[in-house]
Amino acid sequence: MEPTNLVSLAMEVSKNAYVPYSHFPVGAAVLTKDGHVFTGCNVENASFGLTNCGERTAIFKAVSEGYQEFSEIAIFGNTNEPVSPCGACRQVMAEFFPSTAKVTLISKDGQTRVTTVGDLLPYSFTDLT
Ligand code: THU
Repeated sequence: MEPTNLVSLAMEVSKNAYVPYSHFPVGAAVLTKDGHVFTGCNVENASFGLTNCGERTAIFKAVSEGYQEFSEIAIFGNTNEPVSPCGACRQVMAEFFPSTAKVTLISKDGQTRVTTVGDLLPYSFTDLT
């Protein structure tokens, strides 16, 4: 898939974000190794700690449908600069993506910054041995 499509999907799905507390919508679109696309938004809760981030929603939707290998993700946040994903989502990306996987970060006005999962979380905890 063209990266611009993942970008527009991430921006589009952020419109579904359930954000009555932060008013900060996030959208993400992941590409599986075999070409399937899943999207997700953040879903908040009155018990704030139960909030699920947009990135994790997209990844968990894919995993629960049987896809565990990913090649790319695009993440949109309502930010002035391309959004910086939280630590929890970086750890979840490190679980399922190769360190070289492309990550496109998107700002509210559509500016992008391209990085990798390994650059976002170097020396990650992924091996229990
Ligand atoms: N959020 C995400 O969805 N992804 C991130 O990487 C950072 C934070 C959400 C969680 C919460 O709904 C809102 O942004 C404010 O923290």
